[in-house]
Amino acid sequence: MSISAIIAAAGSGERFGAGYPKALIQLVDKTLLEHAVSSLAPVVDQIIVTAPAGFEKQISELLGDDIIVVTGGSTRSASVRNGLAVATGDFVLVHDAARALASTELVQRVIAELQSGRCAVVPGIPVVDTIKETNAEGFVVGTPDRASLVSIQTPQGFIASELRAAHASSKDATDDAALIEANGGKVKVIIGEERALKITTPADLVTALSFIGLSKNIRAGIGVDAHTFAEGRQLWLAGLHWPEQVGVEGHSDGDVAAHAICDALFSATQLGDLGSNFGTDRPEYAGASGTQLMQETLSMISKAGYVISNVAVQIIGNRPKIGTRRAEAIEAISAALGGADVSVTATTTDGLGLTGEGKGIAAIATALVSKQ
Ligand code: CTP
Ligand code: MG
Repeated sequence: MSISAIIAAAGSGERFGAGYPKALIQLVDKTLLEHAVSSLAPVVDQIIVTAPAGFEKQISELLGDDIIVVTGGSTRSASVRNGLAVATGDFVLVHDAARALASTELVQRVIAELQSGRCAVVPGIPVVDTIKETNAEGFVVGTPDRASLVSIQTPQGFIASELRAAHASSKDATDDAALIEANGGKVKVIIGEERALKITTPADLVTALSFIGLSKNIRAGIGVDAHTFAEGRQLWLAGLHWPEQVGVEGHSDGDVAAHAICDALFSATQLGDLGSNFGTDRPEYAGASGTQLMQETLSMISKAGYVISNVAVQIIGNRPKIGTRRAEAIEAISAALGGADVSVTATTTDGLGLTGEGKGIAAIATALVSKQ
């Protein structure tokens, strides 16, 4: 029995307030819509996405040729009907792009119920709040027994012909099962997932992040370095040579920005520090350039499974003036770090300290990395 999946993604995301469709909001490495596609793709034969009018091309390019994109309607039910018109499966799953993190395992359980002969299957989780029914004037008219209440999620699964029959009336409902119920069909509720929450507001994105479990794999690090000016030395700073400038002391090229960055990366990844990795007991690194050390650091942290999210370095000193060569510095550091996202800023210290007195240059760096 073949399975089609319709992803309802044509909403405007009014309550989220991003100013563009909610399905295109980025959650860590991909959009909500791509998350939904990646959970469904391993276990269904056909995926149809209902796109907001005007976004069809963008969504099609994002998802590739294997995914069918149709224009959504003015309500969720109308969008689903547009998808249903091109669905070829014996079973049809209807899923909200907004429930981006529903797992493949949940999809499989919905499918298994259909295969065992159910006509309609919906995931649901027990309600934690007491629910009251109210009238138009805001008065309570009833308190249903909480024990019998479930909060309904997607993907919802249906025998294709039953879903078509339910939609034939062109009625609107907030989910598809409601249309089956209205037609007298039997809807089976299976245990849903906390992670299949509907992302409605920005706060939901924070909850979603906790389900991805990525927060514990994101690590920040810090690094600082300073060197004294030394007449007769060439200045190397931020991976660049500064021909007209006085250099600094140091057994290497004395590139304080590069050294601070290496330390920030070691700090983030808990792989020691500049001294323990490239210190005097490792003579092969004596005199190594800042660029070489950044390359070597990248190789070490990559081997440990880390990917750089971004690196920021601030150069502290009266000279040289960084502003005019900022783009060049960013490019040089980024190249040494495999194309990493880099920012370079600079400051003076109001005449205070070794940098303010013009005795040398310092740099402070932070790095954010994630473990893959
Ligand atoms: N949806 C759809 N077509 C519509 C309206 C909604 O395909 N005309 C989809 C949404 O893209 C979403 C799902 O139905 O994936 C559930 O709707 P909801 O969470 O309400 O999303 P939005 O309508 O986009 O959000 P809002 O109501 O805040 O505008
Ligand atoms: Mg809506």
